[in-house]
Amino acid sequence: MSEQMIDPVVTDITADVSAHPEFSNHEKVFEVAHEASGLRARIFIHSLIEGRALGGCRRWTYDDDAAWNADGLRLSRGMTRKSAVAGLPLGGAKAAICHSDPSPMMMRAFGRGIAMIEEQYGMTYITAEDVGITEALLKEVKKETQNVRGITPEQGDVELSGGDPGPFTAYGVFVGLQAAVKHKMGRDDLSGISVAVQGLGDVGYYLCEFLHEAGATLYVADLDQERLNRVANAFGAKPVDPADVISMKVDVFAPCAMGGVLSEDIRAPIVAGSANNQQKDEIGNGESKMLRARGILYAPDYVINAGGLISVYYEGETKDKVMDMIGMQVQTALEKIFTIADKEDADTASVADALAKEMLLEKKLQPVAEQEKAAA
Ligand SMILES: NC(=O)c1ccc[n+]([C@@H]2O[C@H](COP(=O)([O-])OP(=O)(O)OC[C@H]3O[C@@H](n4cnc5c(N)ncnc54)[C@H](O)[C@@H]3O)[C@@H](O)[C@H]2O)c1
Repeated sequence: MSEQMIDPVVTDITADVSAHPEFSNHEKVFEVAHEASGLRARIFIHSLIEGRALGGCRRWTYDDDAAWNADGLRLSRGMTRKSAVAGLPLGGAKAAICHSDPSPMMMRAFGRGIAMIEEQYGMTYITAEDVGITEALLKEVKKETQNVRGITPEQGDVELSGGDPGPFTAYGVFVGLQAAVKHKMGRDDLSGISVAVQGLGDVGYYLCEFLHEAGATLYVADLDQERLNRVANAFGAKPVDPADVISMKVDVFAPCAMGGVLSEDIRAPIVAGSANNQQKDEIGNGESKMLRARGILYAPDYVINAGGLISVYYEGETKDKVMDMIGMQVQTALEKIFTIADKEDADTASVADALAKEMLLEKKLQPVAEQEKAAA
């Protein structure tokens, strides 16, 4: 296929989107359209560090423009916070393709759009897998741009990181859960600690494996009976009704399914799980405040679930090294957040937000300081 045939039309739509209530000083929003393949994608760049921003691409059939923009604006803002607290030299972005079944040609045109944004605007958007996008589709994107992460590297003698981020995310959640247990219960190990895990997919399964090896007692729920049986059989976990898992009187509730899950029903003294957007009121941190008022320690979602992002960033490094980095990063960040929250009598999500702002500012200033140093 010739380059011209695959070239999409890239339009800067920032001005149009800026009136949307979810818009918060985003750097740029682009529309990438390719008539021959039917591609309609939007790339939301919330922040740039040294000209780069990373965030997955999702596929969804949005009802209208407002819903499409709301999703992209909110998710890209979240990526800025996640990457800042994870200490990565990257800004936050997200892409959303509005389609039910993207074709290989669409993905190539999307990849070409990413390359054109780099050429024409000097902005490096790095894409990865998100809802509805498979590794096979990402390989099509990679035919047109190198700005792609999440493709399994060829393995040699030493196991390398890359590909499926689920196990890496799970490891970060496991270490974060340990940090929360230590902070709240003064316990150094998880032996006999009871954990209710909601959702046994790509993250939940591996989290259960880590917890089982550490001697925790597991209660598990999933809407999918096969997944439930798999975890029950492999790790001796006790299946519970999905309707009851949130309100179980256990030591830890680990939400690893969908967002908006934090509620007054929670009775565990610790909430530590991978689900994204656990609060409905993300801007006001309403649920985080409610949990603090009830004496429940909440490990903020984008801090505890950053392992996948870290693995994607360090793709190609040895797996052991990346696991160590994830453990260290998640533990250090959470211990800091828990300590500040106690000292200032603040809720953990608000403390995490303040930390993210602080770290983003530091990261933005750092390249300038380095340039000055080089010029001196
Ligand atoms: N995969 C990653 O690396 C990663 C990284 C960061 C955050 N997350 C977040 O973690 C969560 C889990 O991700 P995943 O990749 O494991 O997803 P997944 O789709 O592989 O698994 C989710 C599981 O939750 C189950 N589920 C859905 N609703 C449920 C309910 N009401 N009760 C019980 N089970 C329910 C599903 O049947 C499925 O088995 C998501 O919120 C995701 O956004 C994932």
